[in-house]
Amino acid sequence: MSFEKDIRFLAGSLLDYYRESAEGKGPVLRQRSIKEIHESLNLEALAGSGGLSGETLAKFMSAYYPNTTRLHHPHYLAHQVAVPHLNGAVGALVDGFTNQPMSIYEMGPGAAAIEFFVVNWLLEKIDWVPMPTDPSVTADSSYAGGALTHGGSMATLTALVCARSKVVPDVWENGTPGDLVILSPQMSHYAVARAAGIMGLGHNAILEVQTDKTGVVMPDKLPAVLARLRLEGKRPLAMVANACSTGVGRYDPLVEIGAFCREHDIWLHVDGAHGAGALLSDKYRYRLEGIETADSVIWDMHKMMRTSGVCAAVLIKNHAHLDQAFQQEGDYIFHDKAQPGVDFISRTLECTKAGLGLKFFFVLAAEGERGLAEYVDRQYDLTLAAYDYIAGLPDFQCAAKPQSNILCFRTNHDDKWHLTLRDHLIAEGSFYLSTTAVGDIRYLRFVAMSPQTTLDDIKALIDRIRRYASEFQHDTG
Ligand SMILES: Cc1ncc(COP(=O)(O)O)c(C=O)c1O
Repeated sequence: MSFEKDIRFLAGSLLDYYRESAEGKGPVLRQRSIKEIHESLNLEALAGSGGLSGETLAKFMSAYYPNTTRLHHPHYLAHQVAVPHLNGAVGALVDGFTNQPMSIYEMGPGAAAIEFFVVNWLLEKIDWVPMPTDPSVTADSSYAGGALTHGGSMATLTALVCARSKVVPDVWENGTPGDLVILSPQMSHYAVARAAGIMGLGHNAILEVQTDKTGVVMPDKLPAVLARLRLEGKRPLAMVANACSTGVGRYDPLVEIGAFCREHDIWLHVDGAHGAGALLSDKYRYRLEGIETADSVIWDMHKMMRTSGVCAAVLIKNHAHLDQAFQQEGDYIFHDKAQPGVDFISRTLECTKAGLGLKFFFVLAAEGERGLAEYVDRQYDLTLAAYDYIAGLPDFQCAAKPQSNILCFRTNHDDKWHLTLRDHLIAEGSFYLSTTAVGDIRYLRFVAMSPQTTLDDIKALIDRIRRYASEFQHDTG
């Protein structure tokens, strides 16, 4: 059977790819044009005649690997995308093979039960009351709720839809009123602005709250913002806090923000897409102190939880808000039925949904909670060590002391020079970094995602930047 042969071949070939990447062999990334890639993969011919198996598959894979961005490479330092755990990738394969669209229980009881378990496991990390496994228990509002979604942006939208349903219970009938405002720090991920747009609020409904120069919310400034918006006849829909922010990776003070939101009955949404993983860590959990006071939290497993894309969670303190978040009819799905489990379908925007819990569960069950906590600690510790090293160099500056595995730094005052440097490093395939603006200053940004990256790799990066600087002077003007 060619499938069996192919899968054996792929197991070996993928492992070779993994080893090569983890050992830092070859470029971390190589970008060729779409046309070149189409040609090298022979897409046209394969699409016409099929036959992607055996020798053809081997040829295809050896042309495909060089066109990947190698996430396991120690010099992969760019974005907050999980360096996939090998067992997690196996989970993805099992899900792809069995294809369990478990939004309705009968379409994948095993996958649905695993998602239920995973959501409860996440709720317990926030110290919220998990969902009862007995589906007949529904009236009690003291337990939390949640669902896995295809990404943090979807989770953000779902959380804010829940907040909207709380503030405007008849929103599904009468639409979104024009007086709602989302309080949010400027550093929030654009997923919040997208959600505001999609919900019909518009970007102008996002009221930026004052932050320090590293983008962290200053809670003592919140009362004035609230007074101002009330004076303008507006109503707060939600307050967004970052744990941590995308750009600089710093955590907002959740205890103070939570107290403010409780006092004024404002829905607190905590974006823990990247940084909620620190909840597992004895060493860094304190950064999320106060998260339990939130009304909603999002948490991406495909960032710090080493799960291949995508698997995110939307978690709601009072399950009733999520149960009521989406109110549509679909006679072929929403009807009475005898079943021993629950349907997630009314809790998510998606109708067809992958067995996302399985992918994460394969990682969790391979590493155990302790293993994942050690990974978070390692990456956070490494970033602090990198900060100590870089901040101590006379020719480099850092935007802020890191609170996670994200560090922003630069070496001169020329924004454009840093962008050109980044392009150069990517073109030669030596290092893959990202960049961000903090205030109006552009920084190079690294996110330490790969368990293979060490302080020596960061030192090698600094050496490379210095060599580039000696070749290509920055604009001193
Ligand atoms: C803090 C934060 N929130 C939300 C998102 C959006 O998540 P996703 O990319 O899974 O849609 C990101 C993505 O990087 C993020 O960093």
